[in-house]
Amino acid sequence: MERHEVMTVAKKHREHFTVDSALLRELGERLVGAPYIALAELIKNSYDADASHVDIKFEDDRIDVSDDGHGMDYGEFRDRWMRVGSPHKAREEFSRNLRRPLTGSKGVGRLAVQFLGNQLEMRTTSAREPLKQLTATVNWREAVQAGELTSATALYEVGAPTASYPGGSPSGTTISIEGLNQTWERTDFEKLAREIWFLRPPFSDALVQQAEPEGSFDVHLDADRPDKRAFETQLRRVLDLWMARIHGVVKTVSEEPRRSMTHLVIEFQGSRATSEKYDLPPSAEEASQLFDDAGLDLGNESLIDGCQFEIRIFDLRYKQRFGIKVKEARDYLQEHGGVHVYDGGFRIPFSGPEADWLGLEIAHSHRLETTRLLPAALRVSAAATYLPTNSRVFGAVHIDTSKERRAAHRPDASDSEAEYSDHLQIQVSRDRLVRNRAYEQLRYVVIRALEHYATEQAKHRLEDIARIRDVQSPSEAVDSALEILSHYKSEMSSEAYSELEVAIDDAVKDARQQAQLQQDLASQLAAFASAGSLTLVYDHEVSRQIVGVERIARKLRRIARESPQTSAELEQIAADIDQWVLSARGIRSLVRHLSEVESRDKMSRYKLMRVLDDAGEGARYLTRGIPLEFSAIPDEVRLPRGLYAGWIALFQNLFVNAANAIIAQGDPGRIAVSYSVHGNRHMVRIQDTGIGVNLTKAESLFEPFTRNLKIPASRRALAAGGTGLGLTIVKMIANDANADVRFVQPDPPFATAVRLQWKERP
Ligand SMILES: Nc1ncnc2c1ncn2[C@@H]1O[C@H](COP(=O)(O)OP(=O)(O)OP(=O)(O)O)[C@@H](O)[C@H]1O
Ligand SMILES: [Mg+2]
Repeated sequence: MERHEVMTVAKKHREHFTVDSALLRELGERLVGAPYIALAELIKNSYDADASHVDIKFEDDRIDVSDDGHGMDYGEFRDRWMRVGSPHKAREEFSRNLRRPLTGSKGVGRLAVQFLGNQLEMRTTSAREPLKQLTATVNWREAVQAGELTSATALYEVGAPTASYPGGSPSGTTISIEGLNQTWERTDFEKLAREIWFLRPPFSDALVQQAEPEGSFDVHLDADRPDKRAFETQLRRVLDLWMARIHGVVKTVSEEPRRSMTHLVIEFQGSRATSEKYDLPPSAEEASQLFDDAGLDLGNESLIDGCQFEIRIFDLRYKQRFGIKVKEARDYLQEHGGVHVYDGGFRIPFSGPEADWLGLEIAHSHRLETTRLLPAALRVSAAATYLPTNSRVFGAVHIDTSKERRAAHRPDASDSEAEYSDHLQIQVSRDRLVRNRAYEQLRYVVIRALEHYATEQAKHRLEDIARIRDVQSPSEAVDSALEILSHYKSEMSSEAYSELEVAIDDAVKDARQQAQLQQDLASQLAAFASAGSLTLVYDHEVSRQIVGVERIARKLRRIARESPQTSAELEQIAADIDQWVLSARGIRSLVRHLSEVESRDKMSRYKLMRVLDDAGEGARYLTRGIPLEFSAIPDEVRLPRGLYAGWIALFQNLFVNAANAIIAQGDPGRIAVSYSVHGNRHMVRIQDTGIGVNLTKAESLFEPFTRNLKIPASRRALAAGGTGLGLTIVKMIANDANADVRFVQPDPPFATAVRLQWKERP
């Protein structure tokens, strides 16, 4: 086949990328968020150069950072310092002499100094050529404006050493920055000193030492105030005040696909320790339970080569050891708490409390009813209550991104391939980890450890409650008083006798009531602990009751004084009552922290459907599997402004009441939840087919300690209501949110309907 055609053969040309010198600024100043991050880059370079001392000196318009490391010869200066983005450290892995794992990898860290000032002077002497000194100057503004990156220049000269390096070392590097961008005030230095102090992990124990690399390394800040030492010792002491401590080690257990195992040890100060193991990656189910984000996929292989962590949890409500003031300790943790990530021994700035990378604050404000992550057998209601917030923890998670990079990286992969694969890596901005799957796995590992802690803690607390419940009740003690009295009848005047009889009779009645209340509260504690609302009631009602019982004890003592015959026995009874008061106060202290937490919870307009779902889910084991039937509820409907925990408590109470009414009725029953809107009035109704209430008297059910229903003791022990406090809580929460709650006429076939109603402004 012949064809005549004009062949146009396109000639391919080759064009070079060029790099605008403005990139220098993009990689330096623009990426860095704070002076200490820029200084940290220099400190890390010194570390990589095997320095053992770094001195930071501030003068009027100048910052000097000097180290006693191995310095650079001319070749290194040209090929490494003057070359932007050279990945030689990534290849070399370990430092030249001390074999420290290198912290640098991307070849851009030094550019961060542009954040501090415009002018840079470097003086360096290589350990290989101690008789030479290279000085170089860079004017960043000029360099950035050079046009082409390759036209940006530094001026240098080589001569004989003009001065030594820290500690008289013949080799080392001094970087001086002039033309400072910030004026440094006293408080700035203090902040800087702390930030720099925090660059390295503040505590070391057996676990951390393993991660501690070779050789000593000390950063000295010239501007250090005399109080620096005090700060350090104080802080170390505060960190020793832990009440619980979690250690974790992640290790690879098999390859292809890689699977890892986290070994966890949780220690409680002065008591037991428990251990735990869990897999990485988790099953899809476990992962989705932990992260609300259902689409999140942690993959089917472990993306973490190695990681160790220690998290200390603090309870700074009471007087502390070492004479440390509670407030002081709190302030330290407030400022420096949280779980920090240390990469190759240096803190990653954006990993502390401000980042909330573990979502501790969110978890707390939602105060999930159960730790959803754990297998059902391990679940303890209210465990999530014990998930600490950032200001109650200090943690160090040790990773090594250069090691991760090598582990992720097939030997034949190119640098750029390695860069894009899923492993723990630092963003070029230097202050945070890349948000990839490996990062999510790291979060998973740490969050799961905290969940285990929270569950253990909840178990401890419930055990404490059970112990307190066993204490003899005041009624038992007072009951015997009448008996004792009758024994002495013949020895007393009839007047004195009858007076005493009445008094003791009163005391017995009171005490019985208190005892019942006390027992009820103890059993309901578990159910409401997570909802937090109990504390409100406890403070308002129960504290008053405790005072009442104390009064009984005082009265008995007074009577005892007036009637010498019975004094020894009555004194004993009073002492028993005191004992009970102590235990009642004990219970109170168990829930006290909830009120603290409560104040942190966010007031917001929560979505009705979500609250109903969560409340239903949380109450499931108390409602004995009676399903909740929801009518259609538009997703956008929101409850009035209130606390999430409050709304959960409200609906859980109503669900549990409905279930109890059904159980009392004996037949399999139904609970229906419906929503409707009439004009600007919105209402949610919860109806059940239980034994029903007398509508004319229903209002009184909202009064404290009123109840119709006899809850069998077995169910009371299950914490399924029966205290007569539930509806009081419901009403209180509704009223706080300007909503109305009442019993209304149910629709057939239901026996009871409770309606929550609120108005929206048109
Ligand atoms: N204090 C120092 N002593 C000796 N060499 C140094 C020093 N500071 C920098 N260098 C040399 O300059 C190079 C560039 O430093 P830079 O911090 O920009 O990149 P890096 O440390 O390789 O990687 P990263 O961008 O991850 O920090 C270093 O790799 C090192 O060879
Ligand atoms: Mg560096």
